Amino acid sequence: MTCFKFLPLSVLLLGQTLAMAATDAPLRERTSLNADWRFSKGVATDTNLNYSALRPWILPTGNGFTTHAPAVPPEGNPDGDLSFAQPGLNDSEWRLLNLPHDWGIEGPFKQEFPGETGKLPWWGVACYRKHIDIPATDRGRNIFLDVDGAMSYASVWLNGKLVGGWPYGYTSWRVDLTPSVKFGADNVLVIRVDNPKQSSRWYPGGGIYRNVWLVKTAPVNVAHWGTYVTTPAVTDHSATVNIAVAVDNSAATAAIITVNNELFELTADGHRGRSVAVTTGTLNIPAQQSATCDQQTLVPKPKLWSLEKPQRYVVVTTLVQNGLPVDVYETPFGIRTTTFTVDQGFFLNGQHVKLNGVCDHHDLGALGSALNVRALQRQLEILKEFGVNAIRTSHNPPAPELLDLCDQMGLVVMDEAFDCWKAGKNKNDYHVLYPDWHEQDLRALVRRDRNHPCVILWSSGNEVPDQDKADGPALAEENRNIMHAEDATRPVTAAVSSYKAGFSGFQNHFDVFGWNYKPDHYAQFRATNAHVRLFGSETASTVSSRGEYFFPLDTFPPGKNTKSGLADFQVSSYDVFVPGWATLPDAEFRGEAENPFVAGEFVWTGFDYLGEPTPYNADVSNLLNYSNPADKAKALQELTALGKIKVPSRSSYFGIVDLAGFKKDRYYLYQSHWRPDFPMAHILPHWNWPERVGQVTPVYVYTSGDAAELFLNGKSLGLKKKEPTDYRLRWDDVVYQPGQLKVVAYRNGKKWATDAVETTGAAAQLTLTADRTTIAADGQDLSFITVTVADNSGRLVPRSKNHITLEVEGPGEIVATDNGDATSFESFQAPERNAFNGLALVIVRAHTGKPGTITLKATSPDLNSATIKIKGQ
Ligand code: GAL
Repeated sequence: MTCFKFLPLSVLLLGQTLAMAATDAPLRERTSLNADWRFSKGVATDTNLNYSALRPWILPTGNGFTTHAPAVPPEGNPDGDLSFAQPGLNDSEWRLLNLPHDWGIEGPFKQEFPGETGKLPWWGVACYRKHIDIPATDRGRNIFLDVDGAMSYASVWLNGKLVGGWPYGYTSWRVDLTPSVKFGADNVLVIRVDNPKQSSRWYPGGGIYRNVWLVKTAPVNVAHWGTYVTTPAVTDHSATVNIAVAVDNSAATAAIITVNNELFELTADGHRGRSVAVTTGTLNIPAQQSATCDQQTLVPKPKLWSLEKPQRYVVVTTLVQNGLPVDVYETPFGIRTTTFTVDQGFFLNGQHVKLNGVCDHHDLGALGSALNVRALQRQLEILKEFGVNAIRTSHNPPAPELLDLCDQMGLVVMDEAFDCWKAGKNKNDYHVLYPDWHEQDLRALVRRDRNHPCVILWSSGNEVPDQDKADGPALAEENRNIMHAEDATRPVTAAVSSYKAGFSGFQNHFDVFGWNYKPDHYAQFRATNAHVRLFGSETASTVSSRGEYFFPLDTFPPGKNTKSGLADFQVSSYDVFVPGWATLPDAEFRGEAENPFVAGEFVWTGFDYLGEPTPYNADVSNLLNYSNPADKAKALQELTALGKIKVPSRSSYFGIVDLAGFKKDRYYLYQSHWRPDFPMAHILPHWNWPERVGQVTPVYVYTSGDAAELFLNGKSLGLKKKEPTDYRLRWDDVVYQPGQLKVVAYRNGKKWATDAVETTGAAAQLTLTADRTTIAADGQDLSFITVTVADNSGRLVPRSKNHITLEVEGPGEIVATDNGDATSFESFQAPERNAFNGLALVIVRAHTGKPGTITLKATSPDLNSATIKIKGQ
């Protein structure tokens, strides 16, 4: 099947020399441009660049697929000191580095920097320069720069000329370098970023923090994100696959093109398996125009993409001109059906799936926002282990690799665009860009991501202040229309926090309504909105610090805004503290159990993240935070001298998992509910309380069983049963005695799982365990090594904070260290770190191309040291 649709390429392309015949042109190349950039921060502070003027010439062309930039910007020419962009500039003193790069994570932390964004210096102006040799043999080809993300207000300069840019730091974008390329010569590529203060509510990072690619094509080529694969009809016997291929012809002559699409199965590791279908069409594309070819084919006996078996396929598109291939382009996709229903929630391939989701920001803890695929994969592995099946990319487009991983690992995704629309939350946040840019940012997001089987929902925004304003519905409608223009196969939602907006009419402007923190109103919502599909787009927001417990404990459930559980700028890990707008996990579980039409939830958050350290957001006087009278007196003295108290918190307490990737108690609460058939039991708190002998020390148990019996030193403290909407078992009046606390959990009267905590001896040794002891020596792969402060019997000593020094020998390096302590100002790059409640993390990388054994040694005064060997290969 063939169809023709002509779209003009930007008229400004006319200036190009594009005389070469397609038959002489080599095929597509896509190479990483990550290596060897010169970097300098603080240069070129003012270019007076008019970003609005950049916009029209990189606007995706409505229904088309091109994102070309002209040779000369029509207006808004920059001025100021532009020497940073000049090819002749001597940049030899600039720092040499590889991308992805986040300058903010390098610190230092400063007390006076905002806690909201991690007390790290992520803002400012910086330039990245790179020399690229483009051989003479490339003459006649198109040369594109693809940037997966640069934070933020990026402008691109080639050989001294401004050639394009994109302001929103989370969007992926392309610049056509061709008109300014010098073929057969050295080309100087400069990317300048200008990251404004007060532009984020969390740690955004700074710099070119995602991958950058150089793409070379023949004049006739598959357009940028130019394929669109959908599966409108799926049965056991066959799947209908629609394939739209947009082809650009930047040559000066018309082109008759055969578009061949061959479909293959993909193996789990991404290799081509057997061929399952072939289809062909023809396009006649006038000079400097684009056309789209729509084809349809059948895949017999399709293997469906599911959470358990995420089978993928790939369309290999070959463009043939005059009998010769001119472009080959691959589009991985999946065959699956998704439906949100009014009454029963979400269905994948006809099977009901409760969305057990988490929201996460994009930082990778100690690695900052610089993309690392292994770090991302580790996060997803940890999330899956406690039953997560859905990810919300709060509150921005993710790195493309996140979606590749979710495709491969079987996780569904709510792909989100913005944290605000017209009305902002911060002086310089997205609302500044919204009028000029929201359309192309939305188009870029959907166009890039619409072939991923993992994506089930488009989200146009999070808690946008417009939700309660008069023009809120119109804005919602416009954004939905833009997203549907790019992909009508998925519903558009938004995460709405306003109670009122669930009833005002705003709720009707989404295909599925996402409501934040409203489990107590689900029933009321349904009573008023008989036909609106609903899910919990953001839930819980329970806060805690791993391994911290404070007494006395409030009765359960605690009141809102209780201060119980706060001390020393940490939050008690009994999982009972929530800020005023939030709820306990238990309340959301109950709300969904009682209202099964709710499709599920996205917990705030899977991992702790840099910034937003609620409840210690502001630098305020709060001496109540000191539990120890001596510390409090000292603080009072210091603070009196200073005139105020400074809060040291720089990362969040919301995570089910801490910043370093260590499990908090809450991990087991979610696991008990989300993996009901996985036999598990978990006791809290730890049992090292020498100062509490004889005092009441409540014990909680999270289990997937339905009852459990607790024993202290062999003596039963009673069997407790879960009522249908109980999610934790509590022994509120346990009197502390050192020794062993053991739980035996039951299901249907049968023994199901056990757990025990023991009073340990003093810290005596360090132990090291790696998530992987063999890694690739490619400069990117990582080993995550846990350092444990243990007693003589190897048991983790719960409250230990010992100082640990780390050293590597062999062809590798320590990239970062962490311990999950939200108040630590220790540098993430330092090869030393205090343990936080018995644990620390070391992230090790092998040197590129240098296989061999890397030995990591951990030492600490008065403790036996430990070593571990990591093989780089
Ligand atoms: C929500 C917001 C999130 C985060 C969270 C903390 O209202 O959408 O971005 O701020 O609160 O509980």
